[in-house]
Amino acid sequence: MSQHPPIKRYTAPDIQAQKGQKPIVSLTAYHAHTAGIIDPYVDFMLVGDSLGMVMHGLPSTVPVTLDMMIMHGTAVVRGSKRALVVVDMPFGSYEESPQIAFRNAARVMKETGCGAIKLEGGARMAETIHYLTQRGIPVMAHIGLTPQSVNVMGGFKTQGREQAQWAALEEDAKAVDEAGAFAVVLEGMAEALAEKISKSIMIPTIGIGASAQCDGQILVLEDMLGLSPRVPKFVKEFGQIGAAIEGAVAHYAQDVRARAFPTNDHVYGMKQKKKKGIPLKKSASKRKTPTK
Ligand code: KIV
Repeated sequence: MSQHPPIKRYTAPDIQAQKGQKPIVSLTAYHAHTAGIIDPYVDFMLVGDSLGMVMHGLPSTVPVTLDMMIMHGTAVVRGSKRALVVVDMPFGSYEESPQIAFRNAARVMKETGCGAIKLEGGARMAETIHYLTQRGIPVMAHIGLTPQSVNVMGGFKTQGREQAQWAALEEDAKAVDEAGAFAVVLEGMAEALAEKISKSIMIPTIGIGASAQCDGQILVLEDMLGLSPRVPKFVKEFGQIGAAIEGAVAHYAQDVRARAFPTNDHVYGMKQKKKKGIPLKKSASKRKTPTK
């Protein structure tokens, strides 16, 4: 008889059900260590393809590969146990056809153990979103400023600041909702449009640079920790970890150069040889009770 262990992690339907109930909290995570730290506090964590820029120093997310996403996704799933893990589909791995998207998304889910994938695009990706969700792959959509299209957009540009852009973006939101996405990221979007979209669709909107009118928020972890050299206007730095790391490293370098580290507290001495002597009798309490 097969046994189904209870699902302890947040699932895509759990996230969807939060709309209108409580704000959805999320952050990016790229490795096991930080995934473990943020796990108790977030509803989902995103292994975003922003890892290409943040972790690998790439100029954009365009060069990120499926293998990179799988490697970081696997580490994040290993390091966490409670939050839903969503893994980004990188540029070139899903746009060509719903079938190719399914093959690559299934590989991501099998090899990482994540609970959902995210892909960029609105109306143009609706057929693929429907195809994936009908075949067991929960999809988070991503509209507005879509970094994988940076070369078409001519830069990272905030969307919806002119009324003329609204109709297409509202159409994108409606299309991904109807196609079966369980949530949609609104990135770099004027507040008034983000509010209108959030009120008009059934699935939760997750904002990044799209105001508090969204149903939830996401930030790149390194940005909100104060680890990134430059951050956009919409980021609030909740910590100054970059400065803390630099201070600790400078202190370490100074101590090594001054031979102030390591001290006796940090070194291993030789093992002491045991002295030979007459073995002591075992105490009554430690003696084994004879078995019959
Ligand atoms: O890759 C990423 O980090 C993202 C977030 C900005 C939503 O897609």
